[in-house]
Amino acid sequence: MGKGDTRWFVHDRFGMFIHWGLYALPARHEWVRNMERIPNEAYEIYFEMFNPDLFDPKAWAKAAREAGMKYFVITTKHHEGFCLWDTKYTDYKVTNTAAGRDLLREIVDAFRGEGLKVGFYYSLLDWHHPDFTIDSRHPLRDLPPEEIAKLNSTRDMKRYAQYMRDQVTELLTNYGKVEIIWFDFSYPGENGKGRDDWESEKLYELVHRLQPGIIVDNRLDLPGSGDIETPEQFTPDKGMVDAQGNPVVWEGCQTFSGSWGYFRDEMSWKSPRMCIEMLINHVSRGGNLLMNVGPTSRGYIDRRALDRLAAYGEWMKYNSRSIYGCGTAPAEFPAPADCRYTWNPETKRLYLHCLVWPFKHVHLENLAGKVKYAQLLADGSEIRIREEKTDNLNSHTPQGALTLELPTLLPGQGCEVPVIELVLK
Ligand code: GLC
Repeated sequence: MGKGDTRWFVHDRFGMFIHWGLYALPARHEWVRNMERIPNEAYEIYFEMFNPDLFDPKAWAKAAREAGMKYFVITTKHHEGFCLWDTKYTDYKVTNTAAGRDLLREIVDAFRGEGLKVGFYYSLLDWHHPDFTIDSRHPLRDLPPEEIAKLNSTRDMKRYAQYMRDQVTELLTNYGKVEIIWFDFSYPGENGKGRDDWESEKLYELVHRLQPGIIVDNRLDLPGSGDIETPEQFTPDKGMVDAQGNPVVWEGCQTFSGSWGYFRDEMSWKSPRMCIEMLINHVSRGGNLLMNVGPTSRGYIDRRALDRLAAYGEWMKYNSRSIYGCGTAPAEFPAPADCRYTWNPETKRLYLHCLVWPFKHVHLENLAGKVKYAQLLADGSEIRIREEKTDNLNSHTPQGALTLELPTLLPGQGCEVPVIELVLK
């Protein structure tokens, strides 16, 4: 475990990831340079053409807040090496594009203005930097080995590690309080890179000196430094634990479609309903959800992403009480079939999320005698409770279980996934 303050983090549960860089122009994955082996010269056209004339960070921030998100993490620099802020250490930065301004600052101001906490993603990989050696992930990896050796002979990872420290110093000095730094990523081993290349120890020490209490992710290849585990593109099927079996703080990072950067032709967009289920699944297993958007090169969040954010907003408006401050339910309360529990230990309220709406009862094991009141969270309408064991034509309440009597139909709002709030005695 690291030194970061995760108290606010495990309370807030829901954040927005933003991947925005030059890769929004080719619009076919933020790894396009790697996949298509694009050298610096050929990628230069995107730098030249970058012109986010519809950039409106206040609209991004408003969409995030209305979706119920409480923090955000933005790519200040992705693997392509392009910097979204006015850094002193390279010319490959936003101020030298048609945008002509420090867009990171505007984004930070807008999100803070909406009350969200600030997180910076910073790529450890850098396919543009002249000192970053060509390795197994690099766009130039397929050049003849002699040519790679020749190119690498003038490249110096020590200088690159210093460059990272200089840039991280800027990021953690010039933008006020930064709550999260998200380094991405390490791939130690043959022809890869890890802590010795990044000089992770120095980087980690620097980060904590500049922003005590900042949350650092677990991708520096530095055992013991990560405050959070970061499963990506899948939902863990249960809570995450350390080697001793103790629960750890974790955050799943997920996409609406398969890509992080804007991908015009990507069609595997999750339905709004799936997105809501993902949030519930993360929190019910004790995790956070960092949901990604990839704005277009013109600087707006496209319709497909906005629709999903709006679905979150509609559901969260009525049900956020089952998310904020909540986590895994005590083991003595196993969730019924097709349901997920979340639990707020402060208020002692248990939230039953029904992914399939049962007809017309649901039996809750081990809860007989323990619930003071139950209501449908969406409209605050009472759900009647029956506790005596019954075994007749109308119901079968098992021993020790409590039965909720459910309406056949649900109200029209907040019930995309209905939630029943159980107030424990
Ligand atoms: C991966 C990818 C990357 C993305 C990140 C988000 O490691 O390299 O493109 O930014 O995951 O978690």
